[in-house]
Order: sequence, then C-alpha cells, then structure tokens
Amino acid sequence: MNAVASRSRRSVLAVPASNPRFIEKARGLDVDAFFLDLEDAVAPLEKEKARHNAVAALTEGGWDGKVRTVRVNDATTAWAYRDVITVVEGAGAHLDCLVLPKVTDPAHVHWLDTLLTQVERAVGLEQGRIGIEVQIEDARGLTRINEIAAASPRVETLVYGPADFMASINMKTLTVGEQPPGYDVGDAYHYVLMRILLAARAHDLQAIDGPYLKIRDVDGFTRAARRTAALGFDGKWVLHPGQVTAANEVYAPTQEDYDHAELVLDAYEHATTVQRRGAVMLGDEMLDEASRKMALVVAAKGRAAGM
Ligand code: GLV
Ligand code: MG
Repeated sequence: MNAVASRSRRSVLAVPASNPRFIEKARGLDVDAFFLDLEDAVAPLEKEKARHNAVAALTEGGWDGKVRTVRVNDATTAWAYRDVITVVEGAGAHLDCLVLPKVTDPAHVHWLDTLLTQVERAVGLEQGRIGIEVQIEDARGLTRINEIAAASPRVETLVYGPADFMASINMKTLTVGEQPPGYDVGDAYHYVLMRILLAARAHDLQAIDGPYLKIRDVDGFTRAARRTAALGFDGKWVLHPGQVTAANEVYAPTQEDYDHAELVLDAYEHATTVQRRGAVMLGDEMLDEASRKMALVVAAKGRAAGM
C-alpha cells in the first residue's frame, strides 16, 4: 500500500465553506479528513465568498494531521475553473486533495489534472502532489467508472454520492442512506457499492461511502456504515459531530482483529523465511499466502488508524 492509499479516511467531514462557524467547529473534531464544500451545500450567491473562506481556513491551519480537501463545483459548471484557481493559488501548499463531484466522464478528471498542473507550475508548488477524490454520483459515472478511476495518477479515492445517485436513477425514496421502502430483498445499493469498491481496488484507490442525512439517527448511521465497512470500504462521510465516533470505530478493525492480524503476519513471516514453509498452523488456524494478504489489509487499516 502506498503512502496515499494508507492515509486514514475513516471519517470524512463535510463542511460548508460558506459557514465560518462550522469551519471553526470542524477544527476541533476528531475526524481523519474533511472537505470544505464549495458545491451543493453552498448557495450560488455565496460561492465567491465560500472560495475565500476556504483559502483563509486552509492557510490559517490548525487542522492537526487531518487530510485537507476542498470540494469544487463540477466540471460542467461556470464556477469550477475559478474554484480551482482561487483555492490552489491561495492555499495549494495547505491542501491535500480536491474533491471533484458528479464525474461522468474521464475528461472531467483530465481537465482537473491539467488545470492543477498549470496552477502548480505558476505558483511553484510541487508537481502532482495535490490529489483528486472523484465522486461517482449517477448512472453515467458508474458505467464509466474504470476509465474514470484510471484517468489520472492524482486520483486517490472513489466516493459514492448517494443523494445525487438516487435522484439520477429515479429511486422511489427521499431518505438518503437508508433502504428505499418496498425493496425488501436485500441491500438496494449493493450493486452500486460493489462496482465502486471493485473499481477502487482494481486501481489501488480508496473507496469512500457517502453521507447519511438523518444526522440525529446515530444508530441508523452506524448500521449503514457497518454494511459498507463489511464490504471493504475505507470510510464514510460524516455531516455531524454525532457521527464521528461511530465512523472512526466502524471503519477501523477491532483491537482483537488488529492484534490477530499482526500475529498472523509475524507467524507467516517466520514460517516462510525461517522454516521455508508456505503453510503453517497458528493455533487452530491454517495460514497460507492468502491469509497473509487478508491480515495485511486489517493490519494496514489498523496502523493507519494509529493502533
Ligand atoms: C453527495 O454528494 C451526494 O450526492 O450524496
Ligand atoms: Mg452529490
């Protein structure tokens, strides 16, 4: 796992950049990552001000090791290019990634990659350091997800955007993150989530689940998070301080699983190097190379979470 892929993103906090009070509050929260939103949480007449708030918030600092990102408007809007230029010229050295929403075409990613390179050159930033987090939010984006995932080495994560996605496929519900009423034969999002997860893994990217909008229902949030964590997702957006602890717990391995994974790695290393054996017993469990790979996933998530 490379350094980027090992960044912890169990909890990714959405912060409207138009709201200085929320920005201030975000600094004190124990989230792994945050994005200052210039897109759907910001009214058109506030976009300009939000850009400047984002620049000020990043350059002032106080973000304590969190992954620092800004969500720009999508590549088909009139706001997008100025979002990128203002934020990266003003605060590029204090920015880890840009979140690009509503990506339906690899050309959107090529556009952002090129523009980032231009601004990096213009202001003397290290080339290629700023990553891209791609939001997959509709049927067109999902059908082209593999091309999108491969569109630039800057892409670090594929992020599911359930609200836009549900609207785009005419899903018969208004509750984002919950199962649609009437569908009682499993998880209505399973196919979409698996497509995103597989594309992410096929391209060495992280897979991040989107928001759960009933912010006071922490049990509902936890239930939804557990499903994607069980599949293999790396984290989930959080919209409210009440969701943070649940996200950090659900997307990290349990201490018991983490300790066991480290034990498996040690035992298997010893078996292959000292004993020259490809399969070995650890207690009642038989370990082979595939066990090592599974243990490595759990250990890497635990290490990234500081266990
Ligand atoms: C997030 O952007 C969503 O549409 O759910
Ligand atoms: Mg969206």
